[in-house]
Amino acid sequence: MQNMNKDNTVEILTGVRPTGDLTIANYLGAIKPIIEILDKGLQLYVFVADLHALTDNEPDVVKKYINEVVADYIALGLDPEKVVLYTQSDIAEEIALLTTYLSRLTTVAELMRVPTLKDKLKAGAGPESANALLLLYPVMMAADILIQRSEQIPVGKDQVAHIEMSRLLADRFNKRYGDVFPVPKIYQVDALSIVSLTGKGKMSKSSPEGALFLTDSPKKIAKKIKKAQTAVEGEMSEVLESHIMIAKGICNDQDKLKQLDGIIEAHKAGQQVMGDFKKLLTDLAQDFVAKFQEKRKEVVKDPNYIPGILSEGAKIASENAKKTLTMVQKAMFKE
Ligand code: TRP
Repeated sequence: MQNMNKDNTVEILTGVRPTGDLTIANYLGAIKPIIEILDKGLQLYVFVADLHALTDNEPDVVKKYINEVVADYIALGLDPEKVVLYTQSDIAEEIALLTTYLSRLTTVAELMRVPTLKDKLKAGAGPESANALLLLYPVMMAADILIQRSEQIPVGKDQVAHIEMSRLLADRFNKRYGDVFPVPKIYQVDALSIVSLTGKGKMSKSSPEGALFLTDSPKKIAKKIKKAQTAVEGEMSEVLESHIMIAKGICNDQDKLKQLDGIIEAHKAGQQVMGDFKKLLTDLAQDFVAKFQEKRKEVVKDPNYIPGILSEGAKIASENAKKTLTMVQKAMFKE
C-alpha cells in the first residue's frame, strides 16, 4: 500500500457498502470501473462504509460483511498493494466530528429534499418518518469525502445527489471559513447497466432467477442462461445486448471474443445461432466465476490477511483524516 498523499489530498475516493451476494452486474457496473482506476496510475482510497450501512441494517450483520466485501473486491482484482483500503469506523471519531461541523451548514428542509431519501422510504411514507441517520446520510457521506480532502468520486447515477450535497457543503465551508476542501467532482466511469437474464428489470439480487451470482455453481449458471431471454433471429434486444456486454466484460481471451463477434454477425444476418451464443456465454460465465471463487479461497485462507490490509489502510486514512481535522479546526476556531 502506498501513501502518496503528501499534501493530504486524495485523487479518488469511494465507499462500498458491506453486503454479500454480489452479481456479475455489480462487478461490471461498479467494481470493475473502480479496479481499472488503478491501471491508470491514479491514487485511490476505497473504504467499507460500515457506519452508513447502519441506516438500514443491524450492526452485527454489518460487521460480518466487512471482511467479506473486501475479500470479494480483492478476488475480483483490486490490487491491495496499490489501493488504500480501510473501514469507515476505523476513523469514526474524525467522521463523527466532521459530520457535526458540516451539519450546521445545511438545513433539515434541504436534507428532506435529497431525492435518495424518498427512494429509500417505504411507499407512501414521508421523509419525516425516516430514521434520523438516513436523513443525515448525505452529510456523513460528505464527511467521508472531505475528511480525506478527496478530489474525485466515482459513483453510480443513484449517488449523484449525494455528491451534489458534498459539493455544496465543501463550498459553504470554504466560503465561510477559508479554503480547506477541494470541491469534489464526480469521476466519470463507464459503468455498464445490465438487465436481468429474464429481460425484466435490472439484474439484481432481488430477482435471483435473472441474476448471475459470483457464488453460483457451474450448474446453476448453465440453468439460468438456458432459460434466459435472447432475441428473434436478425434482431437485437436489450437483453441480448446485455448478454453481449457481460460476455465482453468478463472475457480476456481474444479467440473467444472473435468467436462471439462471429456469432452475433450470424445472428444479425438471420441465422439461428442463439444456442451457440448461450453455450459460449455459459462457458465464459462459468470460467469467470470459477476463477473468482478460486482466488477468493486463496484470499481468505490466512485469516489475518484482510484484517492486516485494513489496519495498514486505517493507519494512512487516520493520519490523513487527523491532518484535515486540524486544518478544519484552525479555520473554524481561528486558532
Ligand atoms: N452511499 C454509497 C452507496 O450507497 C456508499 C458511500 C458512503 C460512498 N460514503 C461514500 C461512496 C463516499 C462514495 C463516497 O453506494
